Amino acid sequence: MQQHHQIYSFTTNQLLAEAATEAILNSAQRAIAQNGCFKIVLAGGSTPNLIYQLLSQAQADWQNWWIFWGDERCLPVDNAERNSLMAMQAWLEKVTIPAAQIFPIKAELGAKQGVADYQAVAAQYLPFDLVLLGMGEDGHTASLFPGHVHPENEFAHAVYNSPKPPSDRVSLSAAALSNAEQVLFLISGAGKQEPFRQWEQGDDLPVAQIKPENGIKIYADYAALNLA
Ligand code: 6PG
Repeated sequence: MQQHHQIYSFTTNQLLAEAATEAILNSAQRAIAQNGCFKIVLAGGSTPNLIYQLLSQAQADWQNWWIFWGDERCLPVDNAERNSLMAMQAWLEKVTIPAAQIFPIKAELGAKQGVADYQAVAAQYLPFDLVLLGMGEDGHTASLFPGHVHPENEFAHAVYNSPKPPSDRVSLSAAALSNAEQVLFLISGAGKQEPFRQWEQGDDLPVAQIKPENGIKIYADYAALNLA
């Protein structure tokens, strides 16, 4: 695990979500005060859903938020498995972030087209202020999976044969995901104990490829940390 990392443990996923929501809002306030805007990369999967619901009830300077995703599944935009749909329904449709400042990955066009589109988006908006990431039970993050090899010089990758359905995805690269003021991992549930242990012992998992200059923060619940 990266030298400079901070682990915050929470007895429940609810407390993790409440703390993560506060950290996101604080990060936004700082970025907007400094730069006039807040560029956040959203995590997919199920863990962030409660955080997005809490954000939908928060007061924030939404006019200055800019929304990106770390990865997307190659599915129609209205498919229930889309990472973008989950965030829209839980949060983004309920606040006043201008639509022109929300950048879903066009993975419905297929991995190749989706990458071409998001390569340009990333090139225009890097560095990010905050990147949210999950971790899968095999140590993947975003759609960067063990054993997958991607060209070094890409901001966005086409992913085929994903072990987590659907097979085809688009993912920001480890370099793009690391090009951020802050990176916050959100890890919940007993199923993450083994990959978390492997990561801590230094195994070369995709999560270990995320190495931002300022280090990483990990918000994990007791179930994931195997704490009583
Ligand atoms: C995806 C996600 C993926 C997710 C992890 C954890 O598209 O599947 O981007 O990287 O963050 O698999 O998922 P859970 O939060 O559902 O455990």
